[in-house]
Amino acid sequence: MLWKIRKEEITLSSYIYRIDLPSLSQTIQEYPNFNFNCLSKAQIQSKEWLIRQLYECVGLSGKKIAMLGGWYGLLAQPLYELCPDITYIRSFDIDPDCANIAESLNKSLLHDNWKFKATTYSVNNLNWKEKVKYHTQKTDGSYQFMSDRFDIIINTSCEHMPDTWVRNVSSEQVIVAQTNDFDIPEHTNRCDSPDLLIEKLGIKTILYKGRLNTEQYTRSMVIGYK
Ligand SMILES: C[S@@+](CC[C@H](N)C(=O)[O-])C[C@H]1O[C@@H](n2cnc3c(N)ncnc32)[C@H](O)[C@@H]1O
Repeated sequence: MLWKIRKEEITLSSYIYRIDLPSLSQTIQEYPNFNFNCLSKAQIQSKEWLIRQLYECVGLSGKKIAMLGGWYGLLAQPLYELCPDITYIRSFDIDPDCANIAESLNKSLLHDNWKFKATTYSVNNLNWKEKVKYHTQKTDGSYQFMSDRFDIIINTSCEHMPDTWVRNVSSEQVIVAQTNDFDIPEHTNRCDSPDLLIEKLGIKTILYKGRLNTEQYTRSMVIGYK
């Protein structure tokens, strides 16, 4: 558990943020280590904000999307709700507990020809500029080789990792980055402003930059190109 949240902070539904509730309920029962913080008010506000801005700035039709530090992949369903013809979404997280939970939450997308697939991997060890080559675990436990190209690189976990990943992103790929200034030990790379985030990531073409004040912290977001 990263930090404790009050039960009343959990909000489940809004206009754009659609979660598959039967899958959520089944996942919570199946995985006792499920971290409810992914449903906190601040999390939902932050994801809604990202989805709206990304949709307005870039569009999603036909896009191939990578989610770095993708955690439980809770962006996938709302993105597909907005745009059913996204080509695919891939989530990469270093925590081996995340992939099964992410796939359980996004079961219908997983079963729909892997529109969504989660993989356990450090995002610092992959080259996003070219076709990304990696192995992903299937539900039967075996591994499949993957070779995926991405148009959009989303990282909502920048505060959890060094900025190394961005060196391996090309100037043609849209970068969507979120970070925050919340002072807890897990946040090894905190950042308190969109301008500092832009500087740290070397973003040169800015499509959007902004700041969201939540009850717990301030979140910064930038959408743009290197
Ligand atoms: C708590 S979660 C997500 C928090 C984030 N603020 C958000 O709202 O999406 C942060 C995730 O980053 C992942 N992570 C940290 N370092 C990573 C790395 N090098 N590669 C992939 N995932 C990483 C962690 O395992 C964790 O699941």
